[in-house]
Amino acid sequence: MKRYLITGCAGFIGSNFVYYMLKKYDDILLVNLDKLTYAGNLENLKGVEGDPRHVFVQGDICDKELVTSLFEQHDFDYVINFAAESHVDRSITNHEIFVETNVMGTVNLLQRAKEAWYDAEAKTWKEGKKYLQVSTDEVYGALGAEGYFMETTPINPHSPYSSSKASADHFVKAFHDTYGMPINITRCSNNYGP
Ligand SMILES: NC(=O)c1ccc[n+]([C@@H]2O[C@H](COP(=O)([O-])OP(=O)(O)OC[C@H]3O[C@@H](n4cnc5c(N)ncnc54)[C@H](O)[C@@H]3O)[C@@H](O)[C@H]2O)c1
Repeated sequence: MKRYLITGCAGFIGSNFVYYMLKKYDDILLVNLDKLTYAGNLENLKGVEGDPRHVFVQGDICDKELVTSLFEQHDFDYVINFAAESHVDRSITNHEIFVETNVMGTVNLLQRAKEAWYDAEAKTWKEGKKYLQVSTDEVYGALGAEGYFMETTPINPHSPYSSSKASADHFVKAFHDTYGMPINITRCSNNYGP
């Protein structure tokens, strides 16, 4: 059975991801760590209530002890980090929480995953592990009426929100480049619908 630590999945995209995964896979465990900020809503997860393949944990991705204990309990194969402060307008009025959650929270998840998955002496990673960071196209900055972004487009964030997401991406890449951590970063544009 594959075991996932998924974060922020009482929010918009993450809750849809829970439904998608539970419909697609029988033999799976999704441990959903969400702080339930103003953006999280357990109503989004009503349809999976009572499903033993989904375990909800209310907590903060910045909480070292909590994330360590979840790794100890569940021996995760994958981490998928959806959790974020995600609204640009709010980042303009209060950017500090964006640094805490989006940057420090991501670094905490990376570090806890590294402790669980990495053999520092042998410099090897356990087989089949992966960390996936859900980022945003906004790390590339603004696009005019024409053109498109590519993976090779220089990072050029402007808002505190996109700067915090870009910073998190750099840490994810640094864990790959420095320690060889198996990672992916996705940078989707705006989502809508289920
Ligand atoms: N919605 C979009 O169109 C869009 C586009 C591109 C990228 N993204 C990215 O996708 C991810 C999910 O976006 P969304 O629209 O579903 O966001 P959302 O705001 O709907 O949900 C975010 C979730 O994260 C939780 N959360 C916030 N801080 C937390 C913390 N410290 N610890 C644990 N949980 C915490 C909230 O309670 C909430 O459930 C984000 O990382 C966002 O940057 C979203």
